[in-house]
This record gives sequence, structure tokens and C-alpha cells, in this order.
Amino acid sequence: MNEKMTIAVIYGSARQGRFCDTVVNWVLTELWAESGIRITLIDPLELKGPADDAAINVGILEQRIADADAFIVVTPEYNHGYPAALKELIDSCYAPWHAKSVGFISYGGVSGGLRAVEQLRQVFAELHTVTIRDTVSFSNVWSQFDAAGNPFKAVEAKASLLVMLRRLKWWARALKTARRENAYSGVAA
Ligand SMILES: Cc1cc2nc3c(=O)[nH]c(=O)nc-3n(C[C@H](O)[C@H](O)[C@H](O)COP(=O)(O)O)c2cc1C
Repeated sequence: MNEKMTIAVIYGSARQGRFCDTVVNWVLTELWAESGIRITLIDPLELKGPADDAAINVGILEQRIADADAFIVVTPEYNHGYPAALKELIDSCYAPWHAKSVGFISYGGVSGGLRAVEQLRQVFAELHTVTIRDTVSFSNVWSQFDAAGNPFKAVEAKASLLVMLRRLKWWARALKTARRENAYSGVAA
């Protein structure tokens, strides 16, 4: 099957002035060069609009999750966990996540956001997803990118990204085939 896989890149932070934009922009630069994929974005800031207390636009969110075959979650670490905005986004829909693959790119202080990733694995298990073992992680992220948004250790960062991406795509393709052959919703009905 040579069909393109749709990968949704999810912003984990909704903070004003977030570093997430720098990390996502780097990911997108690398992904544009990759064959066989189509990229969409899921951004809690865009889905909520400018008002601080606005609710997330669940209709648009559900459609983007439903249209995707796999996800790359770009998450910082907040107090040894992941951001509340990301949890709100994850919890805003259910079935469209099912039987899809999820990869992680994390960043933060000394832990590189890996504690947030390990918590997210538990959450995504509940949503019937397959999480990819391999991650991309930036510790002390504020010292990892130059002023133009390029990682100082570009070769290592790209190598880690490609390992995660190749495995994410493998699962995305396998699960898409499986979903078509046998609707996941009916498996244990
Ligand atoms: C509320 C808050 C809590 C944080 N807690 C941690 C932490 O527990 N571990 C860590 O490594 N970094 C922590 N950091 C640092 C962030 O991971 C880092 O500032 C990151 O750039 C935040 O992502 P953002 O700018 O995209 O929101 C914290 C930052 C904030 C704002």
C-alpha cells in the first residue's frame, strides 16, 4: 500500500510565549522532506481562540483526530507531568483516537520532558493507541536551539526523529490496514 499516511502534529503547550513553537517548527522542517506522509496540525491555542477561558472547539478537534492515521505529540514537562491544555485536548474526544499510533517529542529541563512522556503512555493506552518506544527528547531545551530555531545538535536530533518516525509510520500503515479489514469498534462488542 503506497497510500500517504496522515500524521497530526499536536502542540502540547498553550502557554503564551511557548517554546513549543520552536520545537514544532523544527519538526515540520524535517517532516516536509519525508515521503509518504501528509501533515496536519492540532494546536490547543488555535482550537480555543484568544479568550483564556474559552472551551476547545471539539468539532474541529474530532475531525482532525479522525482524519489522522498517527500522531506526534510535542510536549514540555510541567511539574513532572504534562500540561493541562494537552490533557484537555486528549480528553475532548474518544473513539477517533482508537487503533492509531502515537509518537512523542519532549522537552524541558534536566529530564528532557521524559517524565511527561511516561505519563502520557498511560493516558494513551486508555485510548486504545499504540505508543512508539523511541522518542526525541531535548533536555535544557532553552540551550538546544540557535536564534533561527535550528538545533545545535542537528544531526543527532534528526537521527532520533527518523527512528521514531519510521516506526510510527510502520504502525500507522499496519493499523490502517487492520482498521479497514475489521472495524476496531466491533472487535469486542
Ligand atoms: C509551570 C511550569 C512547570 C515546569 N516544570 C518543569 C519540570 O517539572 N521539569 C522540567 O524539566 N521542566 C519544567 N519546566 C520547564 C519547561 O519544561 C520549559 O520551560 C518548557 O520550555 C516549557 O514549554 P513551553 O514553553 O512550550 O510551555 C516547567 C515550566 C513551567 C512553566
